[in-house]
Amino acid sequence: MQTEMLRKKFLNYFKSKGHTIVPSSLVVPHDDPTLLFTNAGMNQFKDVFLGKSKRDYTRASTSQKCIRVGGKHNDLENVGHTRRHLTFFEMLGNFSFGDYFKEDAIRFAFEVSTEVFGFNPDRIWPSVFEKDDEAFELWKAYIPEKRIVRFGEKENFWAMGDTGPCGPCSELLYDRGEKYGSAKNPYEDASGERYLEFWNLVFMQFNKLDPKTVEPLPKPAVDTGAGLERILSLSMDVDNVFETDVLRSLIAKIEEVSNVKYNPEDSQKSPAFRVIADHLRCLSFAISDGVVPSNVDRGYVLRKVLRRAVRYGRQLGLDKPFLKDILPKLVETMGNDYKELKTNESRIAEILTVEEESFLKTLKRGGTILNQIIASSKSHGNEISGEDAFKLKDTYGLPFEEIFLLAKDSGLTVNSKRFDELELEAKERSKQAHKASKQMASVNLFFEFLEKEGPTQFTGYNHISSDAQVKALVKDGEFVSRLNEGEEGLVILDKTPFYAEMGGQVGDEGTLVSKDVIFDVKDAKSPFKGVTAHIGKIEKGMLKINDSLIAKVNQERRQKIANNHTATHLLHWALEKVLGSHIKQAGSVVDDKRLRFDFSHHKAMTKDEIKNIEDLVNEKIRSNASVKSYEVSYETAQKREDIKQFFGDKYDDQVRVIDIDFSKELCGGTHTERLGNIGYFRILKESSIAAGVRRIEAISGSDAETFARMAEDTLEKAAKELKTTEDKLLSRIASLLEEEKKLNEKIKEFKNDKLAHVAEKLANHVETKSGIRFLVDIALIEPEDLKALADLLMSKFNLDVLAVGVKLFDGRCQVLSKISDKASRQSIKAIDLIKLISPLIEGSGGGKDLMAQAGGKSSERLQEALDKAKNHLVQTL
Ligand code: ALA
Repeated sequence: MQTEMLRKKFLNYFKSKGHTIVPSSLVVPHDDPTLLFTNAGMNQFKDVFLGKSKRDYTRASTSQKCIRVGGKHNDLENVGHTRRHLTFFEMLGNFSFGDYFKEDAIRFAFEVSTEVFGFNPDRIWPSVFEKDDEAFELWKAYIPEKRIVRFGEKENFWAMGDTGPCGPCSELLYDRGEKYGSAKNPYEDASGERYLEFWNLVFMQFNKLDPKTVEPLPKPAVDTGAGLERILSLSMDVDNVFETDVLRSLIAKIEEVSNVKYNPEDSQKSPAFRVIADHLRCLSFAISDGVVPSNVDRGYVLRKVLRRAVRYGRQLGLDKPFLKDILPKLVETMGNDYKELKTNESRIAEILTVEEESFLKTLKRGGTILNQIIASSKSHGNEISGEDAFKLKDTYGLPFEEIFLLAKDSGLTVNSKRFDELELEAKERSKQAHKASKQMASVNLFFEFLEKEGPTQFTGYNHISSDAQVKALVKDGEFVSRLNEGEEGLVILDKTPFYAEMGGQVGDEGTLVSKDVIFDVKDAKSPFKGVTAHIGKIEKGMLKINDSLIAKVNQERRQKIANNHTATHLLHWALEKVLGSHIKQAGSVVDDKRLRFDFSHHKAMTKDEIKNIEDLVNEKIRSNASVKSYEVSYETAQKREDIKQFFGDKYDDQVRVIDIDFSKELCGGTHTERLGNIGYFRILKESSIAAGVRRIEAISGSDAETFARMAEDTLEKAAKELKTTEDKLLSRIASLLEEEKKLNEKIKEFKNDKLAHVAEKLANHVETKSGIRFLVDIALIEPEDLKALADLLMSKFNLDVLAVGVKLFDGRCQVLSKISDKASRQSIKAIDLIKLISPLIEGSGGGKDLMAQAGGKSSERLQEALDKAKNHLVQTL
């Protein structure tokens, strides 16, 4: 594959220039909430640029898996319709952390472009930021001045996101010639197709604190990014990235699966091939790195991508799940360099298929409702209202495009203006909700603090209490110099044994105390990486900056959390053993009361599997093995297949491993020292939380004992109630059920006898006129026996017309009327009688010709109502 070769050649060049080759980080930045997906090579070095973390190298080079969907860099809607946009791509890059700057960055880029990529130097046009004279001058050593262009902030100032490192940049553009337009220079080339950008050199100089504020970085740095697929398309001289080997081979596979030929010139069908090829890569890498399509955050974005692929698939006649059929080709072409694709192949296939199936179902269901809406819209000006369209999308998940196209087929339009308004409102609502749940104080506040004071030192792995000094106090989102008795706020210390909520583990509780002060810590959180905020209230005294105190974690609670956390690792291990290695953690919550573990698995677990897992975990607990923890470099960890790494709390240079011999995981949490401390483990519940994702809720230690004892207590109580012993409980229940059955039969007999008796008495009131036998009367029975009584009367006494009422004890009443075929032939109808009766008893009734009934609020006039019906009947006959 040329892709593989190009990747290697690029990295080798930079290796020869003293760069360390660093593996690609996950495409899902689990430890960076500001970022949806990894969108550039520099993401994994963000903290290094900010001076918050150090590496033992100052030059690095990577080939980074990137996804650009959602967030600042979002290319989703372009994919398929342009020659160069992709949601997933590989970014080649070189980085300098306070080492070389503009001069070398430009020299390297020029050398690589001409010598490694083999590009014609006469076709390279560098662009620089309009105010960056320095870069302009430096380029002159390689390129004639007239080919160096200047652009403004939009084109030539790069930022990772709304916050984070940023700086002016210089791009390398390649003139692909007149075939791609008549523009004479990049200024005239609005589409960017002729002067194609292939490399971006960012001179990182600033940190963006919020959209309007930047501050200088500790040291200027270099971050570059070149799209691998784009470079290959240039060096292969093909007109778009979909002609490069990996993507083209995926398209060939789609041709095979769909039985439709790919013709790049066919503007109707070709986008579908491109969309599917691209989206499959995006989905597969994201799933393999731990995201599952869902309704929230990254999962939601992934769901959108998958649905887009499915929609385009339908244009090629693919109306059953098909992505799994293309996946093997991706694994074949990229699996050597990205082993995770191979390891997770079956899991990816499964998640894709489950999600495709569910979307196809949604389309079907939404389609049915849409048909109803279409039918009713025809009488409303041939337009589907914005409200209806929004409901279809919001409630039934039917994409707007689908609604629009189906409506068009039926000659209808859609009020898209109103639809957009409603969608905007919904977005605003969710944004507000998101904001409200955000940090308790502005992130900037803590950023400044961190710059000045450095990170809070965590002592809690080995201690539950530490001497500490107050470094900052926060009240109502502002720094304050003191907190008074009774006031609530945040306390930040120089060091602390309190674990701040992270990686699913809850924050510690406890106290901060000195001779005259008690601060009750209700929670500990990290509002900014490196800072621990103790959240709580001053119960006694007051706190000032620089006060000394003792920070004490509630030990009993901490131990329970530690037990549950270690038990979670055991559970993870046991799940893999029992269900298979495809299970992958999708989230976890650990507190002092329980643990919760979400993982990918396609079906409900059986009782036996659950028991099996409990047994395995308890067996390990009894082995009382020790739980070790140590740090290794992230690079080493990445190469170790025996170390589970997923929800890394910090993927810094050094990462922490929790090692129980048979189970090794990257984890920043607090754990118990020996497995025996966990005591006992029980699973409370196993359920589904999303397509292909299961959830286990479990407890350990004394809580698990209490749970087991509760079950025992229930048995004991049940035995006592049933006046037997526990061992005889089941036979006692069986004999009681038998007894109940007999009693019920007896009751039925009694009832029948009673009804027969009542029927006999009522039969005395049967009258006859014109050969029609009729009975209209009140019966003294339970309302639920009314129907049986009516049947009995009709059959046993050969009645033609019956209307029988019963009074309920609460003042209401019921009436039932039945008519024989004979009477019906004389136009007597049960429903007519009931309609006569209903108003008088303040009720309503319904039914048919041969049988009808009514319920009324007032039984006082029941007799009168029946008399009225009878009179009517007599007159009719
Ligand atoms: N980080 C820069 C980019 O993504 C190189 O363009």
